[in-house]
Amino acid sequence: KADELKNALEAVRVVPVIDPKCQDQCLSAVDALVAGGATTIEITLRSELAIDTLRACRLRHPDIILGAGSVMDPMTYDIAVEAGADFTISPGRCSDLESYTAGKNVAHVPGVVTPSEIIEARKSGQRLLKFYPSEAAGGASALKDLGRIFPDVMMMPSGGIKRSMLAGYSSLPGVLSVGGSWMYADGGEYLGPEEIREAMTSSIEEMRRL
Ligand code: 3PG
Repeated sequence: KADELKNALEAVRVVPVIDPKCQDQCLSAVDALVAGGATTIEITLRSELAIDTLRACRLRHPDIILGAGSVMDPMTYDIAVEAGADFTISPGRCSDLESYTAGKNVAHVPGVVTPSEIIEARKSGQRLLKFYPSEAAGGASALKDLGRIFPDVMMMPSGGIKRSMLAGYSSLPGVLSVGGSWMYADGGEYLGPEEIREAMTSSIEEMRRL
């Protein structure tokens, strides 16, 4: 399953990350993102309505790859899987969750920032990692250095990434995909459907490997 996720992200290297505040607003944004070419979307489980929104998203778009974000323990993992998540992802390492999900069909992607965390993650067999909070932690320039030391690790950076920064990430071999909210919101305000569709399409284009 981690391999399927890697292949999908390699083809479309942009992952909208949505922390839903309102289910209808989130579903409309998801419709526009899918129309713009999104094939993988992460819904973060940071609020009461997030799991219902994930479930609604699953029913509405059975073919997209749906990730559940901010998953940090086995119980939340099980809830996310039951709601239809194809993978789960966390902002940091969660050893109990990583042991629990080892060998399971629905992959879990742990988060890292430092070389020490990457070394520990590799020791437990993790080769696909979230880099969070990317921009605060050095963004593309940090990932360039880390990529030289850890060529066998693929990263999914997110956190503070804006459209104007994509060029820095795009050429890095160790960056599998970039995630965030820039393609559907600006300063917390959601964009209109047409703007979302266009921002998604042009972001995918910018991230396409040459
Ligand atoms: C994440 O969990 O990855 C962040 O919420 C990304 O959102 P941002 O692009 O608004 O920082």
